[in-house]
Parts: sequence; C-alpha cells; structure tokens
Amino acid sequence: MKILVTGGAGYIGSHTCVELLNSGHEAVVVDNFYNSSKESISRVETITGKKISLYDGDVRDRALLEKIFTEHKIDCVIHFAGLKAVGESCAKPIEYYDNNLGGTLTLVDVMRAHGCKKIIFSSSATVYGTPEKLPLDETCATGGTTNPYGTSKYFQEIMLEDIYKADNDWTVVLLRYFNPVGAHPSGLIGEDPKGIPNNLTPFIAKVAIGELKEVGVFGNDYDTPDGTGVRDYIHVVDLAKGHVAAIEKITESGVYIYNLGTGVGCSVLDVIHAFEKACGYKLPYVFKPRRAGDIAACYADAGKALNELGWKAEFGIDEMCASLWNWQQKNPNGYGK
Ligand code: NAD
Ligand code: UFG
Repeated sequence: MKILVTGGAGYIGSHTCVELLNSGHEAVVVDNFYNSSKESISRVETITGKKISLYDGDVRDRALLEKIFTEHKIDCVIHFAGLKAVGESCAKPIEYYDNNLGGTLTLVDVMRAHGCKKIIFSSSATVYGTPEKLPLDETCATGGTTNPYGTSKYFQEIMLEDIYKADNDWTVVLLRYFNPVGAHPSGLIGEDPKGIPNNLTPFIAKVAIGELKEVGVFGNDYDTPDGTGVRDYIHVVDLAKGHVAAIEKITESGVYIYNLGTGVGCSVLDVIHAFEKACGYKLPYVFKPRRAGDIAACYADAGKALNELGWKAEFGIDEMCASLWNWQQKNPNGYGK
C-alpha cells in the first residue's frame, strides 16, 4: 500500500517508516521539521535500502496536501504530525490547538476530497486522564485531561469519530500509545529531544553519557510498590510494528481503538536500574517533589490489540534501555540539528 506518513521524520514516524518499508509498503512523508531533521529520513533509507517521497511542509497547508494527493494515489494516512510537549502546551494553548486540531481538520478535508478515507491516528494514554482502573482497557472513560496537549488528543479522537458517524465509508483507527521509548537496534535513528529532556528515559541517557549530573526522581511517596511513578514503557520498534498490523488487519470501515502498550508497569527506579544494566555503571539520582499533573500509575490492558490485530509488544525494559544507550552513544548530539 502507499501510505502518507505525516510527521514521518519524527521519533515514532521514522521508526514506523522503517517497518512500513520493510513490510513492502511505500511511504510518502510530509513534515515541517519543526521537531525533527531530514537526516532521519536519509537514515531510514539507509536502514531499509528503499526510498521515501519527502515533502517539506505543514499539514495545515492545504495546497501542499492537494499536491501530495494529486501526485500520489494514497491508500491510507498515518497521522503523527503534531506538537507533543505537555508543559509547553500549557504555555502555548493557541499554538497547540492550531497545530494539532487545525492540522487534522485540513488533512481529513483533503483526504475526503481525494477519496482517501482511512486514517490511523497517534493518540495517547493521556486521553484516559486519571485512570478509573488499572490496567486501562479501551472501554475506560476518556476526557478529564489536564493540559492542552492531552485535550487536543481527546478532541481529535472525537472529531475523527464524528467524521465516521457522518460517513460510514471512513476507517478511523485510534492508537493510544503508552510511553514510547528506545531506539532502532541499528543505532541510526532514535529520539532527539531539543534541550534538556522532559521525559524520563532521554533524561537518564543524558546522565549516563555525562551531560547531566543526576536523575531527578519526581516523587517517592506515590501509592506504588517503591513509591515512584509507574508507567507502561513500550519499545518504539514494537509501537511502529503496531501501525503496520493496524494497516494490514483492518480492512473494513469503522472506528477502531487500541491501546499500544506492553501491559507491564515499571517504576522510575526500575527504569534507572534497567539503564544501569545497559550502560554498565551506577547512575546518580535524587528524590524530588512530585511533578505537577503527574499520576501515580498508568499501564495498559493490551489484550484487544493482541486479539484483533495479532500484535503484541516483544521487547522489555532491558531491551528498551539497551537500544536507547546504543543510540545515545553513537549519536551524542542526536542528528546534530
Ligand atoms: P515528534 O515531535 O518526534 O514527531 C512529530 C513530527 O511532526 C515532527 O517531525 C514534527 O516536525 C512534525 N510536525 C509537527 N507539526 C507539524 C505540522 N503542522 N506539519 C507537518 N509536520 C509537523 O513526536 P513523536 O514522539 O514521534 O510523536 C508522534 C505522534 O505521536 C504525535 O502526534 C504525538 O503527540 C503522539 N504521541 C507521542 C507520544 C510520545 O511519548 N512520544 C505518546 C503518545 C502520543
Ligand atoms: N520522571 C522523573 N524524572 C524525570 C522525568 C520523568 O521521575 O526527569 C517520572 C515522571 O514523574 C513519571 C515517569 O517518570 O512518573 C514518566 O514520565 P515521562 O515524562 O517520561 O512520561 P509521562 O508518563 O509523563 O508522559 C508521556 C508523554 C506524554 C504521553 C504519556 C502517555 O510525555 O505525551 O507519556 O502516553 F501522553
């Protein structure tokens, strides 16, 4: 199939392009490189030995999307493009709603005009807000989000569901990612955050390589086995494969919702210790107060994706940390942007 991958130069998009190309699909990428670099696309081409049609531009640019859909017969869109920093979204709600909601609206309008009605959307476990139960399954209530980023994901899910309600020819797949981490085993592509990382694993990697002094553990008084926050970390390669499974298995129109996680909760200390195994030495950490807006624990019931898509995560936290460490060592400055 020919897949348009919006945001395909980004962290999850680049790994997904690898899996798409390795599964015999063609990838067309549109990215404005706000949070990525063209280098990731050339590295995807190196890994796979295949070419990507690349468009440098914004998904809110209708004329550009018209051009892409005219030049290519697109079978399906995987929509990654968007802004994703929780803290920044609180300071810049207009930019977040404009980019995330505006981008999706322009995209689906142009898709409709060109008769392409299959979209796989990057949603997030954040749509569950404070979990009503654990593990979280897809029937759990959504909403109650606490920041514009999360709210934009929740709104986008509703928008896409409404589009299906109005026109049952659409296929809408909402993939709710838990915590994607790690890197491709080649060490050629990985996550390349700007500045000091907000997320746990890239922060640990910077401590391991000596760029940052110590890991701050945000809270050790949660109601969890060791008092630190628990999350469902998922290897980005497994996550990428989940997209291929969704494309290949879902052939009927409808709305499909899947959690993409491992079903295993790891605490902050578990992750630090797994990373110590990967890098071979002890990592300094200090306990700090809880981070505003954080929840104690969040992990998936990943059974629906297994039953319906035949997909399950293969890698555990040790492989996630080892692959991240491999990427960090080979690319101490990321893509060098
Ligand atoms: P990323 O920032 O690495 O990738 C997003 C890509 O989209 C970047 O290459 C960026 O330049 C591009 N982009 C942003 N706005 C654009 C626009 N208007 N037009 C064209 N390109 C644009 O982020 P990621 O971690 O790969 O996340 C991909 C998607 O998955 C996002 O929608 C994100 O919200 C979602 N998601 C990510 C996580 C996570 O923890 N990484 C968790 C849940 C959901
Ligand atoms: N944490 C620390 N120290 C740090 C960073 C994080 O202790 O320096 C802790 C957090 O308190 C939390 C855990 O590590 O307990 C994970 O935090 P992350 O920032 O890595 O990830 P979050 O679970 O907060 O959020 C991530 C993405 C969101 C997404 C969510 C669910 O950033 O965009 O996963 O998919 F919505």
